[in-house]
Amino acid sequence: MAEHRIIIDTDPGQDDAVAILLALASPEIDVLAITAVAGNVPLALTQTNARKVCELAGRPDIPVHAGCAAPLSRSLVTAEHVHGKTGLDGVELPAPTMPLQDEHGVDAILRILADAPAGTVTLCPLGPLTNIATARARDPETFARAKAIVLMGGAYFEVGNITPAAEFNIYVDPEAARDVFASGVPITVLPLDVTHKALITPPRHEAFGALPNRAGPVVASWTSFFERFDKEKYGNDGAPLHDPCVIAYLLEPTLFTTRHINVEIEVDSPLTRGMTVADWWGVTDRAPNADFAGDVDADGFFNLLHTRLARLP
Ligand code: BDR
Ligand code: CA
Repeated sequence: MAEHRIIIDTDPGQDDAVAILLALASPEIDVLAITAVAGNVPLALTQTNARKVCELAGRPDIPVHAGCAAPLSRSLVTAEHVHGKTGLDGVELPAPTMPLQDEHGVDAILRILADAPAGTVTLCPLGPLTNIATARARDPETFARAKAIVLMGGAYFEVGNITPAAEFNIYVDPEAARDVFASGVPITVLPLDVTHKALITPPRHEAFGALPNRAGPVVASWTSFFERFDKEKYGNDGAPLHDPCVIAYLLEPTLFTTRHINVEIEVDSPLTRGMTVADWWGVTDRAPNADFAGDVDADGFFNLLHTRLARLP
C-alpha cells in the first residue's frame, strides 16, 4: 500500500494542476479521488480542468467528482486575473474524455473516509475549503476519521494576496476555513510565507520546458502564463508555485520548517475578511490547532518536482 492515501480537493488553476501531476507521478502517493471546488474559476471549469490534468498524466482512471459550486454563505470570488479565463490558460489541452463521476464531491469525501480504516486518508485542499467544511458539517464523526489535512492557504508574514489582509483560498470561503481549523483533525498549513519562496525562476522554468515528455513543456506553458501576474505585482524573478508545496510536504516534509501554533480565521471584519490570525510568536494562550510552515528549501523542492515530473508521459 502507498505511504499516503489522499483526496485532492482542488480548483485548477495552473499551480493546482502541477500539484496533481506531482501526486500522480509519485509512487508513495495513492490518489483516491479528486474533488473539484469553485475557486480560481467556476466549478464547471475546475472539474473539467481536473480531468484534463489526469489525462495529461495518463491517469484517466482517477475518479474526479464535482463538489460545491459556491462558498458556504458568500458569493463566489474568482481569480481569472491570475489564471486566465479557463483557469488553465497556457497550452490548450484537449477536452477530457474521461467521465465526471455522478457522485457529489462531498459525498465522495465522506464515503472514502467511512470505507477506509480510520486515520489512513489525508485530505489535501488546494482551493477554498467549501467541500471540506461541508463534509465536516454533514457528518462530523466520519470526518474525524481523516488522518490529517494538509492545505495550501493563508499567510502570516506575507499577510495577503487577494486583499492586503487575506490569501485567496481562505478569503473566498472564510466560514469554511474557520470550521475546518476548528475540526480537531491534525492540520498542516502551507501559507504564502512558504509558497512565495518557491519561485519559478527562469532556469527552473527552462528545466520544465526541456523535459523530454509531454508534461514538462505543458507545465512550462502554464507557469509562463501565470507568472506575469506575480512578477508584475511583486517584482520577483518568477511566480510562486503554491499548491505543489502541499504534495511536496507529504513526500519530503523535511524540506519545510513548521511551528505548531494557533490559527484563527477572521470572518466578521469586511476589512480583514479571511485573514489567518496565526499566533506565530505564541503571544496568546489559544490552543495550537495547526502546523504552520514558515520556510522551504526551494532548491530541494524544485529538484523533487523536476525529478517527479520527468516520470510522466
Ligand atoms: C492560492 O490561490 C489560487 O489562486 C492558487 O491556486 C492557490 O491555491 C494562492 O493564494
Ligand atoms: Ca488552488
